Amino acid sequence: MKQWRDQLKPAPDAETTAWRRLHSREGVWVDDFDGRWLVQTQGSSFPDELRDAVTGGEARSLYWKPRDKDAKTAPEWIAGEKVTEPFLVTENGVRFWIDFEAGYSQGIFLDQRENRRRVLERVGEGDRVLNTFAYTCAFSAAAAVGGAVTSSLDLSRPYLDWGKRNLEANGIDPAGHYFCKGDVFEWLGTFHRQGRTFQGVILDPPTFSRNGKGKVFKADRDYADLVALACGVVESGGWVLCTGNTHRLDNRSFEKAVREGVRQGRRKVERVEVFPMPEEFNGDDYLKTVWVTVG
Ligand SMILES: C[S@@+](CC[C@H](N)C(=O)[O-])C[C@H]1O[C@@H](n2cnc3c(N)ncnc32)[C@H](O)[C@@H]1O
Repeated sequence: MKQWRDQLKPAPDAETTAWRRLHSREGVWVDDFDGRWLVQTQGSSFPDELRDAVTGGEARSLYWKPRDKDAKTAPEWIAGEKVTEPFLVTENGVRFWIDFEAGYSQGIFLDQRENRRRVLERVGEGDRVLNTFAYTCAFSAAAAVGGAVTSSLDLSRPYLDWGKRNLEANGIDPAGHYFCKGDVFEWLGTFHRQGRTFQGVILDPPTFSRNGKGKVFKADRDYADLVALACGVVESGGWVLCTGNTHRLDNRSFEKAVREGVRQGRRKVERVEVFPMPEEFNGDDYLKTVWVTVG
């Protein structure tokens, strides 16, 4: 880690102020939120050499979250400005609220940067896009900026409210979009029975979840079932963005699961595109992405 300055990644473009700044082989990861650095470590001590980042002028603030710490704990302040209020960052020109006092995550998963760009660029004006496991509705914000009418599904009302603020941050009235609190697995069935369809569906589940009836969903094991459910609500010629943290599956097995899900959902695969992670993640491939167009 001595040469950490040489490993810093520049901003991917002029319209992005939040990105993975450092992704070291030694188990140190730095996410930069407009100068406020969130350092995550494999180990249980803060890497001393990084303390220079504030005095050296690279960072305004340093915060730290060891990976083994309870995921719900907010990051710990180490040096520089204290971040006591939510603040805005930009990614691909889309604005998002970040909160360093929030536990779990600070509002946006930076490894989905390229997928949010794909959504932003691919949606058409007025397209109906369903964002499942929406969290703070970051995908919905990207789709809405692209002109889509979004529906966001999540178990958590506070996260959906955060999502509304993300839309507002982009000059979009959330009243023109839908926010549904509840279980994705149930809602997908309900929408199917109601004949409600979408041009695009975004699937980005957690690695582990429970549906309303207590049944366990594991992304590594059950992804095909989720794709099959999504196929019940996607229009002919529409797309499903299948992504997620599936450590145990390589790209081929993940693509196979997606194809199997389309078959289970009694639809046809028209086109499959497989995408790697953003390059600042140094060739890691824990996050899988398959964009499938279905007939
Ligand atoms: C890993 S995050 C999803 C990340 C999100 N797709 C994004 O773009 O940032 C997990 C989210 O899924 C939600 N969630 C987990 N299980 C769910 C379920 N069965 N139905 C609806 N939401 C669920 C959680 O409340 C949380 O906000």
